Amino acid sequence: MNPTSTVSFPADFIWGASSASYQIEGAAEEDGKGLSVCDVFYRQPQNAWEGDNGDVACDHYHRWESDLDLMKQIGLHAYRFSISWPRVIPTGSGAVNKAGLDFYDRLVDGLLARGIQPMCCLFHWDFPYDLHLRGGWLNREVADWFADYAKVIAGRLGDRVSSWVTMNEPQVVIMGGHRSGVHAPGLRLPLCDQVRAAHHMLLSHGRALQALRAGCKLPVKAGAAPVGVVRFPATESPADIEAARAGTFDITEDTFWNNTWYADPMVFGHYPEDGMKFWGAHLPAGWENDLADIRQPLDFYGANIYNGQRVQALADGSCAPARGDVGPRLTSMDWKVTPESLYWGPRFFHERYKLPVLITENGMANNDWVQSDGRVRDPQRIDFTHRYLTQLARAVGDGVPVLGYMHWTWCDNFEWHFGYSRRFGLVHIDYETQARTPKDSAKWYAELIRGGCLPPLEI
Ligand code: GCO
Repeated sequence: MNPTSTVSFPADFIWGASSASYQIEGAAEEDGKGLSVCDVFYRQPQNAWEGDNGDVACDHYHRWESDLDLMKQIGLHAYRFSISWPRVIPTGSGAVNKAGLDFYDRLVDGLLARGIQPMCCLFHWDFPYDLHLRGGWLNREVADWFADYAKVIAGRLGDRVSSWVTMNEPQVVIMGGHRSGVHAPGLRLPLCDQVRAAHHMLLSHGRALQALRAGCKLPVKAGAAPVGVVRFPATESPADIEAARAGTFDITEDTFWNNTWYADPMVFGHYPEDGMKFWGAHLPAGWENDLADIRQPLDFYGANIYNGQRVQALADGSCAPARGDVGPRLTSMDWKVTPESLYWGPRFFHERYKLPVLITENGMANNDWVQSDGRVRDPQRIDFTHRYLTQLARAVGDGVPVLGYMHWTWCDNFEWHFGYSRRFGLVHIDYETQARTPKDSAKWYAELIRGGCLPPLEI
């Protein structure tokens, strides 16, 4: 233990890092893999920065062994990765690709051999292209396709994997993939179709959980990893806190981006009343009968939190944006650095959903490069993580059950429409040579994991 640090975490706290198949694997058409909507979308050069795509990415498909060695070097307790659905089932439903499944089998064995707990996410956006052509998330059959896929994975990995995430950020799939069109598959659909697709995602989540629990040999610990808005109070007055809480869970008609439309059905088995007023009429026929399947027992509330919005209560108690710092700290995504979101987010989520919270993603993009002496100094990332984890420790201290923290991300990777221009990793990737260089933040994170408390900013 570092005697100078007062910020410490429980002994069984899980320290890990996250990644996603399309962002790191490459090998887009190798060993029988089918195409995903990401393959097709990002091969159109206008869809990502300078025409980048994930065909090669970090070449993790070939370099997984030395990558796992690096993870062990950092001391990760857990590694959250996602499975490429079309690598395992090339057309999305039907015949299984043995070579694809073997890859994840080796990966899981490799993690376990290094003492790293595998946390497997079934879906992080690389939806099978063939199923997209059959209507994708708009086709109700998707719940069967997804459940069948989950069954295949449970049958193969469920004797060694016990931590599961059904899907990552359904909000982005709907808002980016089916509304604004900036994410794959690039659709710009009317609201009724967005509501239908979201409902089918929720049903797929529930059906996959049933398949996991039926098919895994190990006891299943599962959740989803949604993303939403976190609002935090400008002051700690009861009125501001209440406004922030309400603002975190309210639904407004202008955006389909929110927490409760996605999480309430999963946890409570019903859609939130305020959202029903706006969108209830768009739900597909018979939706009420799906709620029991959507609501499955969850072991944690996965939270992807990068930032939040500072708010204050107006005289009538309503929630309004509060002026933040002038000249705020910004990451290279231009996202504001708001450490308070990692206190208030977990606290509010736990208060509402009564589940332990797992931080499934948090991190920042920074303009890192390998400096002339071969080192990657990223003091901003260390400071960012230090600030955020100080707030997370405060939540733990206030009694919020937080199971762990999965940094986004373990290595630089393909940042969707930003291509390779944004770097979120603890490990730097040179995409020309595929050389890996652990950044200073990786050493700092290793120190944190070893000691269980925040190391000083300089190590
Ligand atoms: C997301 C995804 C990740 C991103 C990360 C940084 O939240 O959008 O889960 O795939 O790369 O969040 O934007």
